[in-house]
Amino acid sequence: MTADAAWRALAPHADRLRPLSLRALFAADAGRFARFSASLDDLTVDFSKEKIDAGAWAALMALARAAGVEARRDAMAAGAAVNVTEGRPALHMALRGGCAPDVAGVAEVAVARDRFLAFAEAVRGGAYAADDGAPFTDVINIGIGGSDLGPVMATRAIAADAGGPRAHFVSNVDGAHLADVTRSLDPRRTLVIAASKTFTTQETMTNAVSARDWLRAALGAGADGHMAAVSTNIPACAAFGIDESRVFGFWDWVGGRYSLWGAIGLPIAIAAGAERFRALLDGAAAMDRHFLSAPLEANLPVILALVGVWRRNAMGWPTVALIPYDQRLERFPAYVQQLDMESNGKRVTLDGLPVAHKTGPVIWGEPGTNAQHSFFQLIHQGTDVIPVDFIAAAEPVAPLGDHHAKLLANCLAQSAALAFGRTKAEVRAGMAAKGVAAAEIDRLAAHRTFPGDRPSTTILHRRLDAFALGRLIALYEHKVFAQAALWGINPFDQWGVELGKVMAGEVLTAVQGGDASALDGSTQGLLARLAALRG
Ligand code: F6P
Repeated sequence: MTADAAWRALAPHADRLRPLSLRALFAADAGRFARFSASLDDLTVDFSKEKIDAGAWAALMALARAAGVEARRDAMAAGAAVNVTEGRPALHMALRGGCAPDVAGVAEVAVARDRFLAFAEAVRGGAYAADDGAPFTDVINIGIGGSDLGPVMATRAIAADAGGPRAHFVSNVDGAHLADVTRSLDPRRTLVIAASKTFTTQETMTNAVSARDWLRAALGAGADGHMAAVSTNIPACAAFGIDESRVFGFWDWVGGRYSLWGAIGLPIAIAAGAERFRALLDGAAAMDRHFLSAPLEANLPVILALVGVWRRNAMGWPTVALIPYDQRLERFPAYVQQLDMESNGKRVTLDGLPVAHKTGPVIWGEPGTNAQHSFFQLIHQGTDVIPVDFIAAAEPVAPLGDHHAKLLANCLAQSAALAFGRTKAEVRAGMAAKGVAAAEIDRLAAHRTFPGDRPSTTILHRRLDAFALGRLIALYEHKVFAQAALWGINPFDQWGVELGKVMAGEVLTAVQGGDASALDGSTQGLLARLAALRG
């Protein structure tokens, strides 16, 4: 079957399933959970509450085969230049031992890793100390996008109880970010890491210079020992004045949003320790092995990718809410936002032709239960269908009374409420049983009715430790890759952010009082208002 035919084959299934409710699908098939769930060790993906049935699932599997997902996956692992627009491989798997193709740099991964992990342990243990010989108490990571989101997400997830220096993250060029982080810190006890793949990113370089000024104001020449750098651009780190003993490199075949597994993970390793960092890598490598070897029917990233294609293309739902019932995953939605939307926010195929299908959805989310008390109203009763990915752990990382049982109960209750809702008849019966007057029941029944039929997938694992986090991140990485293969796009470039960067450079001159005559009328108008407001 050709990929085109496989895509066309989805439509009749979608037409058949659209009018069938999830209630009806569960009533017709008591075995949905067994049929539509899959596991890797303690990790389970339950997609039985998606609007699919056996026929639709078979069609999706046929699509995965016809689109050549396995061949693309194997090409990536073999070190082929799958990032076609930049002519390079995408080998984040090699950073965690998930593959080891014969590509320049791959053989150096273990040595480079040992080096930055040794530095992390030296900072944690005080062997590498502040200028006055006392241990560092705080670390500020300065980076943005992939040089920030992965490190901050993983640090919040696995370092809270690891006893290392406190890790802080400054990303925004808004001076308030650096000012607010440094306000409560002592520069004499703070290590600053400038993290940038290119070492040219405007926001990061601006913040790095200001952070260096902050250190120098307190330490003079001693400030130099309080700075480290992570980059592929080693000459630029040297030009910035960071001693090569504290410059940690990586390779151009590591995309920014896939880079936390190498030296960009330095703040994670300082905060969480080398042992946990290695466990993070082991978890990701376990998912790599699974992705590379499991049959498509049992392959968790492929399953998630197909569920996503069903939601996006067959059903036409444009967004996905990602809701971890796990406070330590509070930055996971923001991390996946970059991973997914920067990778698959594409409108042309690998060949540069317009895509035939809608590509990456809008990803958004917040941790539960907080999300229930802000935007879940719209997911339950709004006019759009918003599929949800729920993530939960069986065991708490911080056991406290019955907190975890309540957290889990809320997670399970939300997915059931979304799927099965509450009919008007059920609402009426419930109100009548409570003795509510008939007129009041007539007035409120429609407001209190839940349509249900709102899909979700639930990802369960035993406990959020470093291994489980690595496995979870890699699950989403490979899901994004498999979807790119299905859509025929390149998930490893990000040309879409370039225009804004170039124009920000042009507009900066005008914001600082330079010539604005070449700019459009709206921008000129806004600049005039800004000038007036600034006096
Ligand atoms: O926003 C685009 C981007 O290039 C991201 O892909 C990247 O993660 C981020 O900027 C930061 O880039 P760098 O690590 O080179 O500073």
